[in-house]
Amino acid sequence: PSANVGVVGLAVMGANLARNLASREGNRVAVYNRSPERTRTLVSAHPEAGFVATESVADFAAALTRPRTAIIMVQAGKATDAVISELADAFEPGDIIIDGGNAQYTDTIRRELELRQRGLHFVGAGISGGEEGALNGPSIMPGGSAESYETVGPIFRSIAARAEEDGEPCVTHVGTDGAGHFVKMVHNGIEYADMQLIAEAFDLLRRGAGFEPAEIAEIFAEWNTGELESYLIEITAEVLRQVDARTGRPFVDVVLDQAGQKGTGTWTVQAALSLGTPISGIAEAVFARGLSSHPEQRLAGAHLEGPGSPIALEDRDAFVEDVRQALYASKIIAYSQGFDVIRTAASQYGWHIDSGAVAKIWRAGCIIRARFLGRIAEAYQADPSLVSLVTAPFFSEAAGRAQQAWRRVVSTAALSGVPAPGFSSSLAYYDALRAPRLPASLIQAQRDFFGAHTYRRIDGPGVFHTEWSGDRSETQTGE
Ligand code: 6PG
Repeated sequence: PSANVGVVGLAVMGANLARNLASREGNRVAVYNRSPERTRTLVSAHPEAGFVATESVADFAAALTRPRTAIIMVQAGKATDAVISELADAFEPGDIIIDGGNAQYTDTIRRELELRQRGLHFVGAGISGGEEGALNGPSIMPGGSAESYETVGPIFRSIAARAEEDGEPCVTHVGTDGAGHFVKMVHNGIEYADMQLIAEAFDLLRRGAGFEPAEIAEIFAEWNTGELESYLIEITAEVLRQVDARTGRPFVDVVLDQAGQKGTGTWTVQAALSLGTPISGIAEAVFARGLSSHPEQRLAGAHLEGPGSPIALEDRDAFVEDVRQALYASKIIAYSQGFDVIRTAASQYGWHIDSGAVAKIWRAGCIIRARFLGRIAEAYQADPSLVSLVTAPFFSEAAGRAQQAWRRVVSTAALSGVPAPGFSSSLAYYDALRAPRLPASLIQAQRDFFGAHTYRRIDGPGVFHTEWSGDRSETQTGE
């Protein structure tokens, strides 16, 4: 055996990851793909990589030094289970199987347990950064045992993106079993929210203020020099500058307005619902994609009454600045909610996730990389038990500065008939956090009225019920 690491599944992500690994000092990479043509194509296209090509799982296992370390890059779900089972049969106790796909974290928990019982290590590793990141440096979110990380850590550090600020590689041992895939899933949930908020800003600038896509591209490029600086803002400017070669129209206008999704956003919301963590901004982003892709409902709704033409703005520049601030404040809420669900899951599953370390490894390589992740890392370093990111001094001050603009944008959107579910739900969340009292008291009273579900009082301990259908007297039913 001569390879210290292997890659199974050589579609674009797997092939790029294998090339990235091979380009780093000290790595020799074995590659395997179910159909051998793909292996041959990759190996002959990249002689510089010095791949060890293998055409059976047995050869692949034989090519790896112990402990064997193999990264699986195949479709999440059944295909992953099939490859894991073949590798597990060919590997020996102490060997390490890494799943680098977008797996559901509950699958990762199950797989880790099954393999641990057979003496094997299983590492569920979230890998973000798309095809380009896989090749040149992704952000990597591995779970699994601390013992396996001793072998896997140096390999991942060799290929991960490095943060501009301090050169640190964007990888950390997130936690045991499903922790890495959980954090990657939430990364994607935040990605959905970020993209939805950017899309709302675009819609408001276009329909609300009447700017052309090319002009909005310049606005985004300008925003990308300030506190909003991020990969998603940067690529938005590029997309909006693009002109369709066939029609000469702005590219964004010829793309069908029905957003696709592969499931990680939905998983994030499902997990949050089960954990009882409100991540309303992320949920709105998932629902907005869903709504966009129901043409029959949109057609049926097309005649519904409401404002049509763009609103007359007194000061377009002031509106642009308001939208920028609303976007920034809403983005703070999206990240705040994302870190909330990570924190609740960590305590539920016993993961001990360091939120500051997670923010740090998102600073480069991944799709949501953004300047303000450094600030998030600082906020968690200053207070590791922070209960809500938006309440940390830096972010509460930022949201406080933006909140007037945020309110103006949400009301303009409502008055002009431009849907802004991300902006408005984030603002509602912010106001709910601030509220000295919520109308949940009325809900409790209603529940007690129709179902004797009981309530607590503000003026002392105890559980109470009012005889709503009788004399309306109150009885104490518990401590
Ligand atoms: C990443 C991306 C990656 C993928 C998304 C797209 O971190 O590199 O998040 O995982 O591009 O899953 O998701 P949708 O197809 O659901 O938009």
